[in-house]
Amino acid sequence: MSAMTTTMEGSAAHREQPAADSVFVRACRGLPVPYTPVWFMRQAGRSLPEYRKVRAGIAMLEACRRPDLVAEITLQPVRRHGVDAAILFSDIVVPVAAAGIDLDIEPGTGPVVAEPVRTEADLARLRPLTPPDVSYVDEAVRLLAGELGGTPLIGFAGAPFTLASYLVEGGPSRTHAKTKAMMYGQPELWHALCARLAGITLEFLRVQVAAGVSAVQLFDSWAGTLSEADYRRFVLPHSAHVLGGLSGAGVPRIHFGVGTAQLLTAMGEAGADVVGVDWRTPLDAAAALVDGPSGRGPHGSGRPVQGNLDPCVLFAPWPVVEREVRRVLAEGRAAPGHVFNLGHGVLPETDPEVLTRVVALVHEASAR
Ligand code: CP3
Repeated sequence: MSAMTTTMEGSAAHREQPAADSVFVRACRGLPVPYTPVWFMRQAGRSLPEYRKVRAGIAMLEACRRPDLVAEITLQPVRRHGVDAAILFSDIVVPVAAAGIDLDIEPGTGPVVAEPVRTEADLARLRPLTPPDVSYVDEAVRLLAGELGGTPLIGFAGAPFTLASYLVEGGPSRTHAKTKAMMYGQPELWHALCARLAGITLEFLRVQVAAGVSAVQLFDSWAGTLSEADYRRFVLPHSAHVLGGLSGAGVPRIHFGVGTAQLLTAMGEAGADVVGVDWRTPLDAAAALVDGPSGRGPHGSGRPVQGNLDPCVLFAPWPVVEREVRRVLAEGRAAPGHVFNLGHGVLPETDPEVLTRVVALVHEASAR
């Protein structure tokens, strides 16, 4: 299968330090680094012609279940852009499908659930996850950990709220009305659903850690739709169960959501080593909101942050991109560690060459 070669021979990765002491992992831990590491959410995907080529005729979920394809797609952005970390090619709904929910990922739409989960009886269809349910993920991570050498691999999962939103709505939603209706109207069912999802998510992440990922990211993409009070009451305990369950795993935990300015303190408290921030909140303001692991400290004494270039800035002329990248780097210095990223995923229309230039600029402009 020559078009699907996964070798990284000759790349910088093999000459670097072990992944567990990479620039990316060190920045996640707030340790000194020679430059600010950078990767992009959704870097493995539709902005790359080589991705569209290997995915042609293969459905998204099927691709996620084929370790050779997962490895190839995960490596593509590392080869092309020289990013400081790879992220496993998968999707947040993969473990939910493996735990018994009939769903599909439709191009241009996202996850669509055949029978939404809205009652006690529906919840019974969602089994706890066991490692053999996702053996293909274990296999893909092992393949990748070998191929990547010193480049760390980020594992990930969806957080209970964001997963519950897809299950209850049956697909993507702007208002999350049905999700909130369950949350406010049937709190016991809500907590039972989120507890089940937290168990699935924790197991899914444990499989990835055991197979060799160097960090994990918990995506609570849609939590920003909640007030802080509701987040603390209905969501935080479940996300804390996931993140707390990995506290002894030896890998940094990144916790990210979109539109979460009002939640950054709480999301940090849920047990994140690194708090991901979207483009709406400057990183220095975000750093001031995120407490240190043992409580609130003075400005900047909190935790490392990740972010937060607006993905749409990449459509602007280069001088604007450069100015914005430098601004994000400057604001990131307020935190004890900074991992450069976008404020959300790479948009499919993005010119990949601009991403490559951003990586080079981040490395050069942050060199110390
Ligand atoms: O970041 C990466 O490069 C790794 C791969 C990755 C995918 N999904 C691949 C994917 C990751 C980390 C995800 C996470 C994910 N999936 C999230 C959290 C991140 C975020 O964006 O907030 C969410 C909410 C989902 C659910 C989901 N799956 C959505 C919203 C979509 C996009 C729908 C669309 O087509 O616009 C998907 C499908 C999906 N997941 C694609 C990819 C590459 C596109 C499907 C395809 O290429 O056919």
